[in-house]
Amino acid sequence: MSKMIGILTSGGDSPGLNAAIRGIGKALLGRYGMKVIGFRDGFRGMMENRTQLLDSEALSGILTLGGTILGTSRDKPYAMPVAGKLRDMTEVIVDNYRKHHLDALVCLGGGGTQKNAYHLMKQGLNVITLPKTIDNDVAMTDVSFGYDTALGIATEAIDRLHSTAHSHHRILVLELMGNKAGWLALGAGIAGGADVILIPEIPYDVKKVAAAILRRSHRGQGFSIVAMAEGAISQQVATELDEAGKNKGGKKKEKKRQAEERASNNKPGNSQFLAQQLEELTGLESRLTILGYLQRGGTPSAGDRLLATRLGTACADLINDGVFGVMVAARGDGVEPVALKDVVGKRRTVPLDHCWIESARSVHTCFGD
Ligand code: F6P
Repeated sequence: MSKMIGILTSGGDSPGLNAAIRGIGKALLGRYGMKVIGFRDGFRGMMENRTQLLDSEALSGILTLGGTILGTSRDKPYAMPVAGKLRDMTEVIVDNYRKHHLDALVCLGGGGTQKNAYHLMKQGLNVITLPKTIDNDVAMTDVSFGYDTALGIATEAIDRLHSTAHSHHRILVLELMGNKAGWLALGAGIAGGADVILIPEIPYDVKKVAAAILRRSHRGQGFSIVAMAEGAISQQVATELDEAGKNKGGKKKEKKRQAEERASNNKPGNSQFLAQQLEELTGLESRLTILGYLQRGGTPSAGDRLLATRLGTACADLINDGVFGVMVAARGDGVEPVALKDVVGKRRTVPLDHCWIESARSVHTCFGD
């Protein structure tokens, strides 16, 4: 009797998901003679028992496709929106795993997905995961697929902003994704030659940013590019959050208060507010571009296709060897299965002494500190 394996994609979509599905599926079918079904739209589709057969025809021609052929959602097994309420649908999901006589479930996703997979592992399911996110913030892996593609898109955006900033002698602020980690802004800022890189890990002093821009201007470089992670915050906001964080639930309340204050004062978001501050402090015109979902769109880069295929085929090997409860982590040119319990609840942020930061400082990039 052939083994039956389930696959789902969960969380934000990302280039490389289909390459990973292809790597897992082709290896399981061709090398190990197993059968594969996909669940639609992440854990929600597993709860609703919406499936799609992943046979060789379904797996053909998807290596270069962006997004996910299975669809995705951010729904959690233990807190699933059902009839307007969040309900624990774990039992239904476990039942559907059993109904399909699954021998294993593969979950492709970021930090939240790793946590959801670990939750199902504790219910006795054989789960194995791959690290996916453009944020590159999944712990215990050198890199997640999706990051390399987003890095290329963000870098091209910075390249293009140089010509318009130079022509108009302007400050161009580019807000980049990354959730609460600065990898995308840091990597693209270096690759694109941004003059200022602002990341969540280094709260910034806007006056220091303005001073760096004015020094450039006085040297005759009347334009500057600021690569700003969406999670970057000022030192003042960081202090307010730290103070609030001393009380239980304080940080969450403080973030809510700040958002309400911003809305009531018609204060723009972090990046728009920064652009306005820089124009006031430097006298240079300042404009904002929010790159948004372009960073998640379109065909995966060659690097992500390679990484997703490597991780996917290694996942199939581990399934064949009966290795479960692990994430297939990228380690150098190879892979390493790491225990899910060591992955969940952690976020891979940029270490303050990371060599990329030192490298950026060596070419006079300002971090606002
Ligand atoms: O996690 C990937 C990501 O693109 C983050 O960078 C971003 O903050 C978030 O997803 C956006 O979430 P959504 O797709 O639900 O709007």
